[in-house]
Amino acid sequence: MRRGFKRATIVTFLAFLTWSGGVSLAVNPSDNPILIIPGIMGSQLWARLNRTSVNHPQCSKTSDWYNIWLSLEQLVYPVEECASDNLMFNYNPDTKQYSNVEGVDIQVRDFGGTSSVEFLDPSLHILEPASYFHDIIQHFVSMGYTRGETIRAAPFDWRYAAVGLESNGYYAKLKDLIEEMYTSYNNPVTIIVHSMGGPVSLYFLTQVVSQDWKDTYIKQYITLSAVWAGSVKSARSIISGDNEGIILDRPIWGRESQRTFQTTLWLLPPAGDVWGPNNTIVYAPTGEYSAYDYERLMADVGYTNGPAMYRLIKDKTSEFPAPNVTTYCFYGLGKETPYKLHYDPDNFPNSPPKVTTIDGDGTVPNISLTVCGRWSKQQVHPVTLRSFSPVEHVHMLRNDGVISAIDEVMFN
Ligand SMILES: *[C@@H]1O[C@H](CO)[C@@H](O)[C@H](O)[C@H]1NC(C)=O
Ligand SMILES: *[C@@H]1O[C@H](CO)[C@@H](O)[C@H](O)[C@H]1NC(C)=O
Ligand SMILES: *[C@@H]1O[C@H](CO)[C@@H](O)[C@H](O)[C@H]1NC(C)=O
Ligand SMILES: *[C@@H]1O[C@H](CO)[C@@H](O)[C@H](O)[C@H]1NC(C)=O
Repeated sequence: MRRGFKRATIVTFLAFLTWSGGVSLAVNPSDNPILIIPGIMGSQLWARLNRTSVNHPQCSKTSDWYNIWLSLEQLVYPVEECASDNLMFNYNPDTKQYSNVEGVDIQVRDFGGTSSVEFLDPSLHILEPASYFHDIIQHFVSMGYTRGETIRAAPFDWRYAAVGLESNGYYAKLKDLIEEMYTSYNNPVTIIVHSMGGPVSLYFLTQVVSQDWKDTYIKQYITLSAVWAGSVKSARSIISGDNEGIILDRPIWGRESQRTFQTTLWLLPPAGDVWGPNNTIVYAPTGEYSAYDYERLMADVGYTNGPAMYRLIKDKTSEFPAPNVTTYCFYGLGKETPYKLHYDPDNFPNSPPKVTTIDGDGTVPNISLTVCGRWSKQQVHPVTLRSFSPVEHVHMLRNDGVISAIDEVMFN
């Protein structure tokens, strides 16, 4: 009760100061610098084309740099097929490396700034699906934070899973950025992550940096709807490719493109104690498949490159080592979320499945969202879980209750 009262007072006080304009606030941002790590499809991608051939007469072969993800213009037929084709990866089984399609350059911009994660489409700020971390960032800015200084972001090419990000230098840049923030403000950094930003940051905290480093540079770790142990939507997108997008409630990419992204495989429910061998995820005319059977499933649906690509990341998905930093694990519940897929013999694997659901945030099932709960027994740093219901996966970033809970963590 007392706590609630105090909160209300601070909020009123801040609102008052904001209205009176420009006065310095009760919060000193340098005490609590913030770094944001976005989720899948949560960073803008820019493309430049110089292709010799394209898959549709209306697709351009050449272009200057343009915002390929996300720009609403890019989602209109047939342009969306051009975007989908331009974002495909080529996988080379001999070198085990991914590359862009010949003649396509892809860039992530404004590393350390926030522009890449606030709005996915810089030209259309008002449209809801285009807004991503904007509400949270604007909230902190209204309390005195400065974009690109006391609040920053570490966008990335979300087609790569952690192993791919590591080899293309993302984690080295992330480490430098956190050290630079620490040095500028003389205070450890709060990391706020969403969705696939959960596993991306967990890999950093457990495989890249040392405990001494974390004790020095990280104040706390706030995770929002993190996909700790996969999403059944990912299985659906490699089988029938008719998945609902994680960000937009509609299919975006063709199956052919989805199957080339390293992250589609990384977000499959991993084999292990969350998704055991007896937990059938896919019922199909060709058989039943648990998380232990993906290679057989891929062979049965004609996803030829899948098994080799999957083997590169699978050992990196089944364990959830404790991050060993103070952790707040926030997630949404109260939305029916895909749990099992039932495919008809008719036109398998090209027709959509019937879906059995479980509680979750609409995209990530509760059993995946709550994996962080086990860390309280595995680390000395406190772990706090909190659910918000009903709150959908992306709406976590626009929910007032979630934003006040973040404030409570940051400023109490
Ligand atoms: C585009 O590619 C062609 C070869 O296919 C090359 O000769 C040309 O220099 C490239 N143009 C640019 C602007 O890179
Ligand atoms: C976390 O700390 C425990 C001991 O407190 C240690 O056994 C474990 O290896 C640490 N994990 C990481 C990822 O640093
Ligand atoms: C799976 O089911 C079999 C047969 O019912 C049982 O013997 C086995 O212990 C189960 N495995 C797990 C991990 O629950
Ligand atoms: C997940 O939700 C189901 C209901 O859909 C419930 O039976 C189950 O206990 C929940 N599991 C966890 C770990 O919250």
